[in-house]
Amino acid sequence: MGNQNIIEAGQQYVMNTYGRLPLALMKGQGARVWDADGNEYLDFVAGIAVNALGHNHPALTKAISEQAAELLHVSNLYWIEPQVKLAKLLVENSCCDKVFFANSGAEANEGAIKLARKYAKEHYGEDKFEIITMNKSFHGRTLATLAATGQSKFHQDFKPLPAGFRYVPFNDLTALEEAIGPHTCAVMMEPIQGEGGVYAAEPDYLTKVRQLCNERNLLLIFDEVQSGIGRSGELFAYQLYGVEP
Ligand SMILES: Cc1ncc(COP(=O)(O)O)c(C=O)c1O
Repeated sequence: MGNQNIIEAGQQYVMNTYGRLPLALMKGQGARVWDADGNEYLDFVAGIAVNALGHNHPALTKAISEQAAELLHVSNLYWIEPQVKLAKLLVENSCCDKVFFANSGAEANEGAIKLARKYAKEHYGEDKFEIITMNKSFHGRTLATLAATGQSKFHQDFKPLPAGFRYVPFNDLTALEEAIGPHTCAVMMEPIQGEGGVYAAEPDYLTKVRQLCNERNLLLIFDEVQSGIGRSGELFAYQLYGVEP
């Protein structure tokens, strides 16, 4: 099928939840991709910034093929050696003690939100549940991560959203200080914002956010869905700042 046929069939059978460009991509190699009509493109999008190794990297293709021939899925009811090895690798190269694997960035952030609320409830009681996030942030498309996202254009069709989120301007310590109240349990932010425009936290700001969270007994959550896994030059962007979540 060429571009036109795939697009027409897609419009008939696939839900219209994304604004897509009018081409169907068929294969990739490094930084290049080809569409269904054989046109070649340089891929500056990289799967929305996540294909850090490019397309069809031989080591990645080999690892996925070999694992597919061994086991594709067994659920979390069992221990899985590659999962344990990956968790160890991440722990040994980050400030984290343990890893929670999720299927998407939104799900990882749901996990972080739930963890923060559970921690706050166990340590401080029912009243500490609110999470402060940043204007222009993006944390995902599930209901709670949409609520955490500080961009009203993503909220408008899905209200009422889960309660318990407040938004402050990014890189503004005074606004953050003023927003902290008796219900606040955590601050959640991208060290380098992505979807709302590429805005990096000022180093001094991030250091002071960490200090503020320590002083006020707040958890600090870094969403590194876009800035992590080597894309900033370090494994995680927080390592560039020397400020740990
Ligand atoms: C910073 C950030 N967090 C979360 C997400 C959501 O990730 P996913 O689309 O994998 O759910 C994104 C996606 O662009 C993101 O950039």
